[in-house]
Amino acid sequence: MKPAERAARLREELARHNDAYFSNDAPLIPDADYDALARELRALEAEHPELSDETSVSKKVGAPSSTVFSPVQHAEPMLSLDNVFDVDELRAWAERGAKILGEDAGALSFAVEPKIDGLALSISFVDGIFTQAATRGDGRVGEDVTDNVRTIHNVPLSLGTGVRGRVEVRGEVFLAKADFEELNRRQRELNAKEFANPRNAAAGSLRQKDSQVSASRPLSFLAYQLVDLDGSLSFARYVDTLGQLASWGFLTAAEMVVELGVDDMIARSNWFEEHRHDLLYEVDGVVIKIDDLAARVKMGFTSRAPRWAIARKLPPEERTTRLRAIEVSIGRTGRATPYAVLEPVVVAGSTVAMATLHNEDQVAAKDVRPGDLVVVRKAGDVIPEVVSAVVESGKKRAKPWSFPSRCPDCGEPLVRIGLESDTYCVNPACPAQQLQQIIHFASRGALDIEGLGEQRVAQLLAEGLISDVADLFFLRVEDLSSLEGLGELSATSLVSEITKAKAAPLSRVLVGLGIRHVGPVAARELARAFSTFEALAHAPLEDLEAIDGIGPVIAGSVYQECRELDSIVRMARLAEAGLALSEPERGGGPAATLAGRAVVVTGSVEGFSRDEAEAAVIARGGTSPGSVSKKTYCVVVGDAPGAAKVTKARELGIPMVRAEEFQRLLNTGTWSSQLA
Ligand code: IVH
Repeated sequence: MKPAERAARLREELARHNDAYFSNDAPLIPDADYDALARELRALEAEHPELSDETSVSKKVGAPSSTVFSPVQHAEPMLSLDNVFDVDELRAWAERGAKILGEDAGALSFAVEPKIDGLALSISFVDGIFTQAATRGDGRVGEDVTDNVRTIHNVPLSLGTGVRGRVEVRGEVFLAKADFEELNRRQRELNAKEFANPRNAAAGSLRQKDSQVSASRPLSFLAYQLVDLDGSLSFARYVDTLGQLASWGFLTAAEMVVELGVDDMIARSNWFEEHRHDLLYEVDGVVIKIDDLAARVKMGFTSRAPRWAIARKLPPEERTTRLRAIEVSIGRTGRATPYAVLEPVVVAGSTVAMATLHNEDQVAAKDVRPGDLVVVRKAGDVIPEVVSAVVESGKKRAKPWSFPSRCPDCGEPLVRIGLESDTYCVNPACPAQQLQQIIHFASRGALDIEGLGEQRVAQLLAEGLISDVADLFFLRVEDLSSLEGLGELSATSLVSEITKAKAAPLSRVLVGLGIRHVGPVAARELARAFSTFEALAHAPLEDLEAIDGIGPVIAGSVYQECRELDSIVRMARLAEAGLALSEPERGGGPAATLAGRAVVVTGSVEGFSRDEAEAAVIARGGTSPGSVSKKTYCVVVGDAPGAAKVTKARELGIPMVRAEEFQRLLNTGTWSSQLA
């Protein structure tokens, strides 16, 4: 395609996306894909200046105002930010700035703060009184959203006495992550459409014709710019303006730090990349601003953005890719989960080739079909998921996907029970279920059998050596030593690891059995209450329900499990193999949540001295060695952690848990998310 044609095509595409994003609050593609198109157009225009013209979308900021809200002319334009996508570009930006200022980049002070994924707002005050609020619009003219902004809980309506002249406070309207979840929960209850992400939800909530509706939405505002139109205030540094904003009652970014020199500035921006999921709001980048306001004046602006600020975009958590097929996988409980087979795409820094589609209803609600272009999302440790299909005009789509009627592994019928959205393979002999059950039984959270990972279990199943967890304990060295990849030595060590697991406390065996609704906490309550499996298996339902922390659902599930023929046989065989199936007495101390586990603590953990942290682990049956090894269960990473321990843990693939989760680890023996 000729450059002129390509530029025209890109402009058309971008205009369509701009309209969807800004005017309808309903983006068609993820921001990262939009950025890629915009970058391509800008590069093309830079290379072929004859293609560039002042009306190009590449020069525009946002979208023109709609007709629903009255237009508001901004006293000073609301500019956008230029983006950089990696550390080298960021360094180059800082060095260009230093050159303009004739200073050394090592001597510049940079404010580094989160780039909140919301929408920009300018709030006008006259003599300290709130008078008007406007969206950014196209940067020159925005929309009057005064009535709606008045209802935002953390926008002060007065700056107090003593403030003279016209002042504008600019910042971001957003929905905190927790508020977004809550809003979507409410939407579900009302059978209303859920919002795709906090930004869309915030935009949709702000641009309501009825301010009562806005008021019912949990919007927040964070201030990051003070525009002093009459020159009645005087500040030397950006941080001073933030201090003023905070003293007027505005929320400002608590994570903002001023760093001296490019290296520390870059390190701080990396900190944001690492901690983006720990913040209360969703961020799509880091904003770096020159702190010295006089220096900002010297640096000035380009047509769309200031030279004194830059946005470092973080790896996008949403991308589009092609959906090759939809398949179904069978879990250990027999649950059949549909998943997407994708053309591999890099999302949040790692390659994603598969993503979950949750269940039949989700596939139908999202209406994704093989061959579609789809939006894939991967945030933090969360399993990648398909968010939606992208509408491609004029393209013929496949038929809507329908859930298979038979299990892809055993061929038995799949069933949907009652009102649940999940579909199950109910054949207890299904090989896929057996595989998942045995993997779970041997996993860290359960019997923690080293050397028994997914591949090994699959191999043992395929060789017909096992078909149930109990079979593991009857394996002999001579059965294993002739298998591919397993010599005499590893066979011996695998058998010895399995033998060791026989001593596991009942609570861990209960976790390993994967009884529905029984997690580590319930398993421990049950094991402590009955001490032996024998007693638990014969307990009447009332006795199960009477245990603290065990509700009727868990009690019912355990009661039923203990009376199923398959599980009676399994437990009898486990007993025959010599498993302890009992819970050691622990007197009045805390539960043995970490029995036999080595937990290394590095760095300081709030609320615990080094000795106290160690004692807490030991009190729960664990050990707390001073160094990381293959046998380490997990590493708790506090403030200023030891580099050697972290590196070693990373090398050995030992889970690293944030110090914030230490108490949870002590209470439950597990954690909710781990550091990469
Ligand atoms: S400063 C002239 N700081 O990002 C400088 N913007 O892509 C104006 N944004 O329009 C912006 N967090 O809506 C600034 N800490 C932050 C921000 C931020 C989010 C948004 C804002 C802006 C857009 C530019």
